[in-house]
Amino acid sequence: MDLVIKGGVIVTATESYRADLGVEDGSIALIGRNLSGDEVIDASGMYVMPGGIDPHTHMELPFMGTVSSDDFRTGTVAAACGGTTTIIDFAIQSSGQTLREALEIWLEKAEGKASIDYGMHVAIGAMDDERMAEMGQMVEIGVPSFKIFMAYKGTFMVDDETLFRSLLRAKEIGGLITVHAENGDLLNYLINKHVAEGRKEPIWHALSHPPEAEAEATHRAIVLAGMTGAPIYVVHMTCADALEAVKTGRAKGFKVYGETCPQYLIFTMDKYEEPDFEGAKYVMSPPLREKGNPEALWRGLAGGDLQAVGTDHCPFNFVGQKEMGRDNFAAIPNGMPGVETRMPLLYHFGVNEGRFSVNRFVELVSTGPARLFGLLPRKGTIAIGADADLVIWDPDKERRLTRENLHMNVDHSPYERIAVKGFPSLVLQRGEVIVRDDQFVGKVGAGKFLKRSPIHL
Ligand code: URP
Ligand code: ZN
Ligand code: ZN
Repeated sequence: MDLVIKGGVIVTATESYRADLGVEDGSIALIGRNLSGDEVIDASGMYVMPGGIDPHTHMELPFMGTVSSDDFRTGTVAAACGGTTTIIDFAIQSSGQTLREALEIWLEKAEGKASIDYGMHVAIGAMDDERMAEMGQMVEIGVPSFKIFMAYKGTFMVDDETLFRSLLRAKEIGGLITVHAENGDLLNYLINKHVAEGRKEPIWHALSHPPEAEAEATHRAIVLAGMTGAPIYVVHMTCADALEAVKTGRAKGFKVYGETCPQYLIFTMDKYEEPDFEGAKYVMSPPLREKGNPEALWRGLAGGDLQAVGTDHCPFNFVGQKEMGRDNFAAIPNGMPGVETRMPLLYHFGVNEGRFSVNRFVELVSTGPARLFGLLPRKGTIAIGADADLVIWDPDKERRLTRENLHMNVDHSPYERIAVKGFPSLVLQRGEVIVRDDQFVGKVGAGKFLKRSPIHL
């Protein structure tokens, strides 16, 4: 073996057992006892888990008059430091562009910069007969998942006909439609009303994005998916009412899958009332919700109603970016950082606090996203032949999630006051150590574009 990881507890989505793991040519080659190899990593006292897969990031996203502050270089280094070895980002089709052109633009952003492996979804900005055909070509080249924004009227939002046609086509070609589910027309009305009334503060962002708008759009998207028989994946779910729509859809036999993100599990909307415009750090869409919703989401993760935890990583600096909205909440760029903190937060608040097992943790941060997005069996599990993307997870390692301790290219940490227990000790991609002692030691640009399989859920 090129490398043997000895003495750890191997953790998959279904099992935990003590064994050595052998790596050859970047793949997992052997699992057994008393293995020997050219290089040995002692994993005593550690968990050996599949590397994390974050199915929802926005590196270098042009949005609301600015650009998200992590590019594929800084963002993937940060991801790796938090235990994530694969991201799936979103290429967004602008008006007049083909899906292929949008994809090329995003692949160019990532090429030579991404330090971990990456896939792309394509966000559909307009649907016509040519685009319908192009969706099939996307699946053929390894991009089997698409995004529909039901919100952001005037920029990313598309109409229900586009959503419905995308679902119909996805069903034919082994595609998966992901949706940002909020009622964009209603949000637009509320935003304009509140701005006209002189409401400026960050809290008005939340009050312009009520949970009803999310629940209604979630329900609508699921019903449309159910009519077509296509699977649907609802991104960044925030509230109990939207979760009810997922449960109802699934009870009807629809193929409905849901994602939430750590920020919706940990924070509530009182964050928007922090003094000195600090609430702007938490302005994102959908927004943080009232107490009670995080608890419902945790139950959804534990009980199986939600299948994945992504981040919606879309950071903006407080100085110079979030500040664009000091006099107008509607001009605060929407989004927050998270790609590095996802796994430690979910482990600490999920596993340590007894909400679910370490196996469920692996399912939510790695195996689930791999299964849903056409990456299994190469990524997302520990099995012979899989890429040796591994996290040697130290369940006793404590870290404060301060700006100084993190690597994301953003001038603040939303989790500044939070300390977690459970953190990566080492991270490997295809058998190479890429994170040691909390520092990225891999090669910038070594990340590979992942051609994913068609998705048949
Ligand atoms: O506020 C957010 N979520 N920004 C990123 C774009 C999106 O909606 O996913
Ligand atoms: Zn979104
Ligand atoms: Zn997003």
